[in-house]
Amino acid sequence: YDNSVKAIRGSFFDITRVVDHPEEIEAHARLVEDGLLIIRNGCIDWFGQWEEGKGRIPSEVRVRDYRGKLIVPGFVDTHIHYPQSEMVGAYGEQLLEWLNQHTFPAERRYNDREYAREMSTFFIKQLLRNGTTTALVFGTVHPESVDALFEAASRINMRMIAGKVMMDRNAPDYLLDTAESSYLQSKALIERWHGNGRLLYAITPRFAPTSTPEQLAMAKRLREEYPTTYLHTHLCENKEEIAWVKSLFPEHQGYLDVYHQHGLTGHNCVFAHCIHLEEQEWDCLKETDSTIAFCPTSNLYLGSGLFKLHKAWHKQVKVGIGTDIGAGTTFNMLQTLNEAYKVMQLQSERLSAYQAFYLATLGGAHSLGLDEKIGSFATGKEADFVVLDPVATPLQQLRYDNSTTLRDKLFVLLTLGDDRSIYRTYVDGQLVHERG
Ligand code: GUN
Ligand code: ZN
Repeated sequence: YDNSVKAIRGSFFDITRVVDHPEEIEAHARLVEDGLLIIRNGCIDWFGQWEEGKGRIPSEVRVRDYRGKLIVPGFVDTHIHYPQSEMVGAYGEQLLEWLNQHTFPAERRYNDREYAREMSTFFIKQLLRNGTTTALVFGTVHPESVDALFEAASRINMRMIAGKVMMDRNAPDYLLDTAESSYLQSKALIERWHGNGRLLYAITPRFAPTSTPEQLAMAKRLREEYPTTYLHTHLCENKEEIAWVKSLFPEHQGYLDVYHQHGLTGHNCVFAHCIHLEEQEWDCLKETDSTIAFCPTSNLYLGSGLFKLHKAWHKQVKVGIGTDIGAGTTFNMLQTLNEAYKVMQLQSERLSAYQAFYLATLGGAHSLGLDEKIGSFATGKEADFVVLDPVATPLQQLRYDNSTTLRDKLFVLLTLGDDRSIYRTYVDGQLVHERG
């Protein structure tokens, strides 16, 4: 008897194909009202109608029956800082003051391996109780912080991408490395963790102001030596920040040019925020096949500005959704999508329910180059999924009963939903979170 086999019954919803335009998403939206998912060794072995598939379930396997719920692929968070969980909701500042007053002191504590372990466990629990099964994560400058996080993720075989921050100037001494030490520490972490199980490594210069040109050159060297790693940083978040970059790198054409000239653009290079991009920066992101992480709660919280998601589609630049904890104010992807909708409203643009779910699942996976592995219920993919309770509160029940179409039901779920909507979370075919 093969105890790696699991059978899940319920209503399933996913987007089945990567698209170039948001209008195409609905055509690839799939609802299987009475569906069956068969999992073998953590991967999707069979998916389809219950009636069609029930004969395939081995007789010893108990069916987990989630009828009445809605099962969707696990959410993908394309930008988050795990060492900022303890300072979410810090009052009163925009980016640069916020970093100095709140962020750097919080990150200081991660030189303590025990503390980093405790917080890694906390962080992963937060992801799971919010339905997030894959994340691209900032550590701190301390390599111990990344060891702790990867150790915790590997215990449940979670698909996680993370890296040690590289920063060798313009921050308190206690958080600085050097060009040389950041290279050596990142290299050791890559050797230990990149491609270890489902874990992947992201080379992580914090942002241009906190790296010398020498350190950026080291980041480039790492990328050349390990071309399948990610590059993860921040770009054009705040107007003061952009002016500062221009004064630190006067010989460059702009903010993105600093990264570009250092060989830090390209496939699987992920830039958080990108609110105030110039036209040639949009073009450069497109030409290099780079990715943007759109972080609505953070952008509103820090007063950074409104991301032009419509322009990203127009320019054909890949976008994923990020919570950006701790400048963002929630781990929850439904709440994040709700805020994304409002960011678009403020620009007289729309974010449809289908587009929102796409960005949080297959689109997010695609933005991280993982759409062959996660993001939908295609056979062979990794079995990471969430069982959503669409009627977790009386208000949701009322509103749900008054919705007729799938589009409306999905939209209400992301507008009113939060962690109470996350009934069960599965990673690698295993139940890893149960509500209540
Ligand atoms: N830019 C550089 N560091 C950070 C950070 O920690 N959070 C945000 N939101 N922006 C940054
Ligand atoms: Zn960030």
